[in-house]
Amino acid sequence: MQLSKETKNQKIRELYEDGKRQMELCNACRYCEGFCAVWRAIEWRREFSDNDMKYLANLCHDCRDCYYACPFTTPHEFGINPPKTFAKIREETYVKYAWPSSLAKLMGEKLTGFWIVFIVSILVFVGGAFVKNGISGTFERYTGEGSFYEIIPKGVMISVFTILGLWMVVGWLIGAIRYWRDIRSSKTDKVAWKDIITAIKYAMSLRYLDGGGAGCTYPTEKPAANRRWLHHLVGYGFLLDFASTTLAAFYDHVLHVPAPYPVFHPVVILGTVGGIMMIIGLIGLLYLKTKTDKEVDDEFSVKKGSTFSVALLFVALTGMLVLGFRETVLMGFWLSIHLASVATLFFTAPYSKFAHFVYRFLSLVNYAQEERVERETRVVQKAKQPLVVQKGIKINN
Ligand code: HEM
Repeated sequence: MQLSKETKNQKIRELYEDGKRQMELCNACRYCEGFCAVWRAIEWRREFSDNDMKYLANLCHDCRDCYYACPFTTPHEFGINPPKTFAKIREETYVKYAWPSSLAKLMGEKLTGFWIVFIVSILVFVGGAFVKNGISGTFERYTGEGSFYEIIPKGVMISVFTILGLWMVVGWLIGAIRYWRDIRSSKTDKVAWKDIITAIKYAMSLRYLDGGGAGCTYPTEKPAANRRWLHHLVGYGFLLDFASTTLAAFYDHVLHVPAPYPVFHPVVILGTVGGIMMIIGLIGLLYLKTKTDKEVDDEFSVKKGSTFSVALLFVALTGMLVLGFRETVLMGFWLSIHLASVATLFFTAPYSKFAHFVYRFLSLVNYAQEERVERETRVVQKAKQPLVVQKGIKINN
């Protein structure tokens, strides 16, 4: 059912107000104090603005420890459920800050947009290969240097993926600038380099998916480290694949040695290891999703996250299929499907769950700074206190 603009805005308002109500109650209770960055960040506040709620929502890693520890979840009248509320607010930020807004609404609020882009990409790449080579030419066996370009010409590949790559990066950048401006709106102090380094450490180790050391309570109430390790496989696998593609571009355009490369070439080794890591990690994450507690899940976030995971899985699987079939007549077909899935991932990146890393990273930078300022303030206050106070006599000031 299509909601009117007023109803949509009203629902968003209610979501934020309910989030603030929960945070104020949590701040009074403080049972979850020390669980994760979110609970320390709320301690440093007495009131919560909409921008605070966006920051907290993107700081939350959805580990769900707070939900299972809380005595005030439904059926209690307080109905505390921060992971679910934060998931909904995250979805709102993914749409609000993405650019251009009209496309962000079209792609970010419904998943049909993603599937339309996917089908169009398949038609363009597979159709393009058929138009250029004919059906029999596409299913011919091409081997040796530059054989991929027999299917899709080099110029087309370079220009299409340069444009799509720029689209993705510019989309993320605009989202990042807009989000940063809002979550920093009440701040006067500057971010230091060491805050960025701390945030990188938190992001690279997924520190707040460890549930304080015992593992997070996901997918069930039992603490487990699976999700964190599976995400590491996906994240680091993706970085290896990115390194492989960058190296391939260097070999092709600088050294003038075009793909495909031998099996023991660094480009192929990096790509294969990264691809396998991603496939294992993504299947694992998708499996965990089938076991989660529906009371804590936000249905749309789950669907959007799964769509992103499936899209990444498709990229990794078809990449491996190109490698496996590159000496056969099926190389052209799998290459076209692989390029179509990469094009879909790039085009939808500013609006899909892919954007989570941008907002999460900026929230971690903001948090690292708050944490440092808080620590420094405590040190100054301690230094100002009398060293020893005995029998009501101040000995040192
Ligand atoms: C700053 C770096 C990153 C951080 C802090 C981060 C954090 C998280 C967290 C906390 C989750 C689980 C909660 C949620 O669903 O939102 C998650 C999910 C996920 N992340 Fe990341 N992530 C980062 C980068 C990446 C990268 C580079 C990739 C891969 C390209 C990636 C892929 C995924 C996938 C596939 C999921 C599962 C989506 C779902 O099924 O809902 N993440 N990430």
